[in-house]
Amino acid sequence: MANGSQAPLKVLFLASEAEPFYKVGGLGDYAGSLPAALRAVAEKEGRPLDMRVALPFHQSIAVDPSGFKKAAHLTVPKRRGTAKGIAFQTTFNNIPFYFIRRSGKAGGFERIYSPDPLQDARKYIFYSLASLRLAEALDWQPDILHANDWHAAVAVHQLKRLAPVHPFFRDTRSLLVVHNLPYMGGGTEDVLNEFGLPPVDAEGLPAWGRHFPLTMGLVAADHIAAVSPSYAQELLSDEFGSGLVKFFESRRERLSGILNGIDTHLWDPRTDSHIPENYSADSLERKPLNKASLLQTLGLPPDTERPLLVAITRLDVQKGVDLILSAMPALKDLPWNLAVLGSGSPGYERDFSDLQAAFPGRVRVSLEFNSHLAHQLYAAGDIFLMPSRYEPCGLSQMIAMRYGCLPVARAVGGLRDTIQDVPADARTGYLFADADEASFSRALRSALADFGNRKAWQAAQVRAMRQDFSWEQSARRYLDLYRELRTEGK
Ligand code: GLC
Repeated sequence: MANGSQAPLKVLFLASEAEPFYKVGGLGDYAGSLPAALRAVAEKEGRPLDMRVALPFHQSIAVDPSGFKKAAHLTVPKRRGTAKGIAFQTTFNNIPFYFIRRSGKAGGFERIYSPDPLQDARKYIFYSLASLRLAEALDWQPDILHANDWHAAVAVHQLKRLAPVHPFFRDTRSLLVVHNLPYMGGGTEDVLNEFGLPPVDAEGLPAWGRHFPLTMGLVAADHIAAVSPSYAQELLSDEFGSGLVKFFESRRERLSGILNGIDTHLWDPRTDSHIPENYSADSLERKPLNKASLLQTLGLPPDTERPLLVAITRLDVQKGVDLILSAMPALKDLPWNLAVLGSGSPGYERDFSDLQAAFPGRVRVSLEFNSHLAHQLYAAGDIFLMPSRYEPCGLSQMIAMRYGCLPVARAVGGLRDTIQDVPADARTGYLFADADEASFSRALRSALADFGNRKAWQAAQVRAMRQDFSWEQSARRYLDLYRELRTEGK
């Protein structure tokens, strides 16, 4: 197209979950908020963006789908026969959202992520392939395919296969965003075979990676983005590169890191309707009222001078929650209370219940996903515990800082990019280097010691709260990247 830069940029955005339709983890926040942020920035710049989002149609959808309209019947060829499905459409934030459902037994699964890789394979590989069929059915040629994580990566792979033989996709360029590298979609080989998708090969790709949805997408992608600049660097390191360091090295030129934003309207202590007392960096003296109220709700002694530690997290090994479990008893001679909110592995759930039983006067554990309580904990908390072993971006540390709850976190990925530890007069939180108890407790001890120094502590809270964690800057970076890719594609 000669006037390519004037025509609206058409972006097909694929993700396994997006709020408010589905939310399991950070990807749901990302996919729920980025498309609208992209649209808003593009509008501001006067450069039109035609953004469309396609999600799988999970049975556990959180909104009433009865108003969705049928948009297309989709047929995906298999090695033998075909797989069929239907796409439904609704509009959210002025953006068309499509929901792709596979027909028949292979499409009917309750859970968004199943413990059985075959169930996920049947759903997500179909979804990935069908999303391209949807573009064709709508006669809408995307300039950019923006796919997230392994669940959508096969679309990137398929695009690369189709482009040379199928004029419809000749000019479409792809971006694959990595939110969590270790989840590659292993155990799906039989289904890849069913759909006639052969193993791939590429410089630096180990033999085991030839037939994984994520690696197949990474090999085919025109660009790879990680969800923070530090995570992009870490993909090139043995500790975090999951065996793909050589491959990522070969793609260095096409690999970047763009930090996620958060929904700054939803997470705003000035207007948050979930919390008893609204406050801001200018009225920090009101924040302890939230603590007083929460201590009462949780049945803890009403001592607001005592620092309240908060952890809101999935209880799994990535999040380093074992470090919390082992550090707290060792720090029992210091004053603190601890409130934990989250669910996850049964072993950790038991361990946290045991911790509460061992410290009934100072520990409260809620083994659930409870968004209302999460808001209250951010508002009440003084110190936010986030000792993640790895953290591609992480959203809760940013939310915590906006609420003046200073994080103690491992210096990895997005935690390192959003939290400033030194110098002390620029501090917004506490970082530690190694994923072990000694390193974590040292950082936590110094946070607890600083909490007693009211003036310096409040100065750090004010700095933390005044940071800009909105999507605006990062949305601009994604738009620039889309435009660069489109220019290359012509
Ligand atoms: C994954 C990562 C997390 C990131 C989120 C959104 O859940 O583990 O660090 O914030 O994706 O990109």
